[in-house]
Amino acid sequence: MPNSKSVTRITVPLGERTYPILIGDDLLKETGRLAKEHGIPRSCVVITDTNVAPLYLPAVIKSLQRHGFEASSIVIPAGEVQKSLRRAEKIYTQLLRRRAGRRTAIIALGGGVVGDLAGFIAATYQRGLPFVQVPTTLLSQVDSSVGGKVGINHPLGKNMIGAFHQPLFVLADISTLQTLPEREIVCGLGEVVKYGVILDAAFFSRLQGGIQAALRHDTKTLRRFVAECCTMKSFVVSRDEREDGLRSILNFGHTIGHALEKAGGYRSLKHGEAVLWGMLAETMISRRVGLIDREQEFRIYDLIRSVPLPEVPRSSSAQLLRTMRNDKKSTDAQIRFILPRSIGTVTLPTVVEEKLISRVLRDLSWSY
Ligand SMILES: NC(=O)c1ccc[n+]([C@@H]2O[C@H](COP(=O)([O-])OP(=O)(O)OC[C@H]3O[C@@H](n4cnc5c(N)ncnc54)[C@H](O)[C@@H]3O)[C@@H](O)[C@H]2O)c1
Ligand SMILES: [Zn+2]
Repeated sequence: MPNSKSVTRITVPLGERTYPILIGDDLLKETGRLAKEHGIPRSCVVITDTNVAPLYLPAVIKSLQRHGFEASSIVIPAGEVQKSLRRAEKIYTQLLRRRAGRRTAIIALGGGVVGDLAGFIAATYQRGLPFVQVPTTLLSQVDSSVGGKVGINHPLGKNMIGAFHQPLFVLADISTLQTLPEREIVCGLGEVVKYGVILDAAFFSRLQGGIQAALRHDTKTLRRFVAECCTMKSFVVSRDEREDGLRSILNFGHTIGHALEKAGGYRSLKHGEAVLWGMLAETMISRRVGLIDREQEFRIYDLIRSVPLPEVPRSSSAQLLRTMRNDKKSTDAQIRFILPRSIGTVTLPTVVEEKLISRVLRDLSWSY
């Protein structure tokens, strides 16, 4: 058993829904003990995907069983397309056939896709089941497993169906990141850079060296990134759980990012890659509306360009703007951005003229 010093504990203070994020190395084998400590019901279903199951499912099930849990699993194919109502319905059927009741816990073991989908199942099956997040990608450890946003995609838009359903605890085992392909590390770095720009200039300054170390899977760096980002996310979520104000700053880079992701059919660019490009473009917009100065703009640009990224597929500027207008955060078809004023401080959603957005997209050769 690791001593408690080797586990970093960050609290997400949300009144009666308060929960801890536990970060450490080689923690999966502690799942059972931690589940018991957090009062998880005896019966639990681990939802995971076909890439993660062979690597980490046996350790989790074994640990749960050793601590007296009746643990079974549901393994779904890997990939963003699984975040669908069709997949959710199949899982509901499996749960009903297993006679899962209100006293069954759902444990999400995997990346953001598994976390969002399993969380959605936990929020909706029989009006809500206890839920645990065991994130295994950098993106899910620094971002998606914390904050309770769960959901699935609709053919007309990403994350359009969902709920707020907080986990009982989050278990981030840094050792699982050793098997993560480099491209998935890059995706996580997208959200890591985001935290530096929106909230913490000192963290941003330390990122330059850290990014290269993270790409080499350096455990100490990854662990520091996860702990610092979870602290920042916890700060934001605890002040604005349901995104009525402050939480919207987490969307920096995402308005353009989502449009690029969609334009590439969710294949050319992964979420974190699109967010990195989105942050670059949104920083340029901020410069052109006179918010951020040239030097700070360059620092953000240089940091993003130090991350290996696939090219942005070119698409029509009308199409990109249409996607941005339909963003679920937009209430009146005006396009709004979280814009950096300087590294570490951003605006709340700010309307930007479409002409200016098109010009930036064209200057970057992303649109015609
Ligand atoms: N709920 C939120 O607040 C929130 C925030 C950000 C992103 N998201 C969502 O998260 C999703 C993206 O998450 P993601 O980037 O983790 O993608 P993902 O879940 O698709 O995982 C990426 C790939 O890595 C594999 N994988 C997972 N863990 C592994 C490991 N340890 N070793 C080897 N392979 C592993 C997966 O099978 C998958 O192929 C998107 O759907 C996005 O909308 C949600
Ligand atoms: Zn994101």
